Amino acid sequence: MPSSFEALRAEALACTRCRLSEGRTQVVFGAGDPDADLMFVGEGPGAEEDRRGLPFVGRSGQLLDRLMAEEMDRTRDTCFIANVVKCRPPDNRDPRPDEVAACRPWLEAQVDLIRPRVIVTLGNFSSKLLLDTKDGITKLRGRTYPYRDGTVLVPTYHPAAVLRGGGEPMARMRADLVRAKQVLAGVSS
Ligand code: URA
Repeated sequence: MPSSFEALRAEALACTRCRLSEGRTQVVFGAGDPDADLMFVGEGPGAEEDRRGLPFVGRSGQLLDRLMAEEMDRTRDTCFIANVVKCRPPDNRDPRPDEVAACRPWLEAQVDLIRPRVIVTLGNFSSKLLLDTKDGITKLRGRTYPYRDGTVLVPTYHPAAVLRGGGEPMARMRADLVRAKQVLAGVSS
């Protein structure tokens, strides 16, 4: 893998490692500050993200931006936002295991180069992948996990699930983001 972030981006933008490359408009590599202390990892691009080449720019992204601002006092340009798969699965189906496996080295390389203090995983796909578990997000969320190189992982719901689920998941996601903020402030681990 390339050792600079820009070289990594250039290589990823030309990726044809799996069938998702055939249907994409463009690779959604991720966006934000590659020197950030905070990273968010979602599932995969939707239609709007595929069209614009940017992660979380549809309804889920608007909710993420709002909760990030309200609970963490942060804007998206102060963190890095990425996805488990970088190309849109057709008809917004779930990414398949071989697609996740093919794309995994890009995400791992992003994490290695960014070396964030905190990774907030959004939903089942990123939480299960990075924690290497079959447990679901409802069981995983509500606490922090040590990741590698001193990074702390904070799993929470995917904003799309919060949009569907309403008040209770929203309150839990808010609490998880406060937890992430406390880790970043050094008042929790
Ligand atoms: N959902 C995701 O998981 N990622 C995006 O970029 C957009 C919606």
